[in-house]
Amino acid sequence: MKCFLYFRDKSKSKQSKSAPELKNQNKSDTSSASRTTKSAGSMASPRSIPELYREKGQDLRVFSLPELRDATNGFNRLLKIGEGGFGNVYKGTISPADGQGNPTVVAIKKLNQQGFQGHKEWLAEVQFLSVVSHPNLVKLLGYCSVDGERGIQRLLVYEYMPNKSLENHLFNRTMSTLPWKMRLQIILGAAEGLAYLHEGLEIQVIYRDFKSSNVLLDENFNPKLSDFGLAREGPTGDHTHVSTAVVGTQGYAAPEYIETGHLTVKSDIWSFGVVLYEILTGRRTVERNRPQSEQKLLDWVKQFPADGKRFSMIIDPRLRDQYSLVAARRVAMLANSCLNKNPKDRPTMREVVESLKKAIQESEDGNPSDRNRPESSHSNMANSDRRKDKMGATGTSTSKKKIPPMLQPTKRSIVV
Ligand SMILES: Nc1ncnc2c1ncn2[C@@H]1O[C@H](COP(=O)(O)OP(=O)(O)OP(=O)(O)O)[C@@H](O)[C@H]1O
Ligand SMILES: [Mg+2]
Repeated sequence: MKCFLYFRDKSKSKQSKSAPELKNQNKSDTSSASRTTKSAGSMASPRSIPELYREKGQDLRVFSLPELRDATNGFNRLLKIGEGGFGNVYKGTISPADGQGNPTVVAIKKLNQQGFQGHKEWLAEVQFLSVVSHPNLVKLLGYCSVDGERGIQRLLVYEYMPNKSLENHLFNRTMSTLPWKMRLQIILGAAEGLAYLHEGLEIQVIYRDFKSSNVLLDENFNPKLSDFGLAREGPTGDHTHVSTAVVGTQGYAAPEYIETGHLTVKSDIWSFGVVLYEILTGRRTVERNRPQSEQKLLDWVKQFPADGKRFSMIIDPRLRDQYSLVAARRVAMLANSCLNKNPKDRPTMREVVESLKKAIQESEDGNPSDRNRPESSHSNMANSDRRKDKMGATGTSTSKKKIPPMLQPTKRSIVV
């Protein structure tokens, strides 16, 4: 059974002014529980995210609810810029804390009021995002936390990313086509962000929700990973994995994780492989309005091997011949290695980064003979249905589907 999560300050109707914390850790997660203090003489254990958060968490601004209500004109639906499993996202304008200088445009995520699970994700997001710092990770500016008679309110305030998400650009037909090199630059930046999480910090961070909708784009189309609500610390000491409840998004989660709940950084590598194929094909990982054999992207692409003659048939037709076939084959081979059944055979994110740099170089060098013309056109049904499967929705939508968990509903969860 899941443990309940509390704030330290349990006074009613108070806005939390102190750094948010969990009173109890979830016992089903062994990430912190497995942290053993080694015997004298051996290296000290790395600190946990909550510890790092207390020690060096960047200063986050604590907003009041009225402040954020004002910032969004009463959470006006005209200012709503997105909706995910966590809640609605609004564009807002906040004044500087000291009242000096110009107002800043921000994105404000308002948690659905559906209880403890949402709180746990909110807290994870606050703690992870205040400890990490990288140009390819979205910046958290502050938060709002109110426990009142009328329920809990949890909000997050981020830097505003004006160019929406990679998902929007790949699949929304009202957007102009994302050019080949830009796709590679975006996925390279996302890879750098993941590599930092896996290898660039005192502790290893497993992101657990890598997907195209979580790759946000700034004014220059630089990518930044968002949504750390599902992030977990990696295994420490002799542990090979973290055991957790299976959560994530269907179509992106690694099979061994879905089957066993054993989480490693290699789960992120699998999800990365899925997004590589989304970038190559312009198709979502699951599209239910396609013929049966084409509904699951990973099954469909198997018919067109990366080194085969028919490979170019999977390339996004919107790219026309404006891509490097050599580079595309490299990206597909990289995706295949990320999608190895055996997690140990998947590359590290550093290796992924190197391979993507080569693909970019090949695209720069691409000579006309490298320019590919697809051998024949392939069916490319209109992919305009961008409805997201919300909890309780029927399974007929084309988009990725989130299945509610057995114990406590969270729209992100996968249950097998
Ligand atoms: N910092 C931001 N700046 C600008 N837009 C944002 C920002 N954060 C989120 N959005 C917009 O809100 C949308 C929804 O984001 P959100 O993370 O809530 O949902 P999601 O990624 O689609 O699904 P999930 O909840 O499963 O992660 C994003 O696709 C993006 O368009
Ligand atoms: Mg998201």
